[in-house]
Amino acid sequence: MGNKRKMTRRSFLKRSALTLLGMAVAGGTYTRCIEPGWIEWKRMIHNSSRLPEAFHNLRIIHFSDLHFGYHMNAERLLSIVEQMNEERVDLILFTGDLIDNGLAKVDQVIPALKKLHAPLGKIAVLGNHDFRHAPESKSTNALEQAGFRVLKNQHVDLVRSGAKIAVAGLEDWFGGFPNVREAVKGIPADRYTLLLAHEPDLADEAMKYAIDLQLSGHSHGGQVRIPGVPVKWNPEMGQKYPDGLYTFPNTEFKVYTNRGLGMTFLPVRFLCRPEITVHTLRRQVT
Ligand SMILES: [Fe+2]
Repeated sequence: MGNKRKMTRRSFLKRSALTLLGMAVAGGTYTRCIEPGWIEWKRMIHNSSRLPEAFHNLRIIHFSDLHFGYHMNAERLLSIVEQMNEERVDLILFTGDLIDNGLAKVDQVIPALKKLHAPLGKIAVLGNHDFRHAPESKSTNALEQAGFRVLKNQHVDLVRSGAKIAVAGLEDWFGGFPNVREAVKGIPADRYTLLLAHEPDLADEAMKYAIDLQLSGHSHGGQVRIPGVPVKWNPEMGQKYPDGLYTFPNTEFKVYTNRGLGMTFLPVRFLCRPEITVHTLRRQVT
C-alpha cells in the first residue's frame, strides 16, 4: 500500500513536472514565435462634422514601431507590406521607430516600403529609436527613398475635389524638439487636422490646438501583459495613453495609440499582439 502511494506520488510529481515543462516550452514558443507575428488588424471609425464631404469615408492605414534589425527583417516586412496593400486604403501613415539596431542594414527597408501604395501618399514621423541607434538621417533617408514624406514640426495639406485636410507631424520627444505650434502654423482653425506624434503623451500639449486626431505609437501597449497585473513598464512619454483610443471631455480632440509591429528590449509579446490600424474618417453633421 505504502509502495503504491509512493509510486502514485512519484508519478504525480513526474506528471506535474512534465506539465510545467510543457507549459514553459509552449509559453516560450508562444511569446517568442507565435504572438510576435500574429498581427491584429484594428478598425476604427472617427466621425466629425469638421471633415469635408470630399474626405467622407477616407481610409487610412496607421502602422508604427517596426524596429527593423531587431527580430524584424526584410522578408517579414515585405509580407506585412503585401498585407497592407491588400487593404487598398487612401493614405498610409507611419508613427516612428523604423530601426532598432545601429548595425541594421536600414537600406533593406526601402524596397519593401517603396511597394506600399496609397493614392493620397505616405507620411511619417521619426521615433526615439531612430535617434538612439544611428544618426536620424539614416531613417529619414530610408523613409524618403521609399516615398514617405517625413514631417518634423511641419504639416502638409491633402487635397480632394478642391477640399483640404491637414496632416501635421512632430519631431521626436527624446531626439528632437516637438513643437505643436510650429507644426500646425498656418493651418486654418476650421481645417480637419491629423497629427502624427511618436510619443502618445504629447497629447497633453496637442489638445491645446485645433487638432482632431493624434496618431501615436511608442508604448507597444506594454509588449507583455500579465492578467491582473497593471502594466507599469510602459516607456516614458508612453504611459498616460499607452494603447487604443482616448477621448477627452469638452473637445473633439482624440488620441489613438497603435501597439506597433515590432519589439524592443526583449523579443517577446504576450497578450499584446502587434497591430495595424485602419482608420476610417466619416463626415457626420450633427
Ligand atoms: Fe518603439
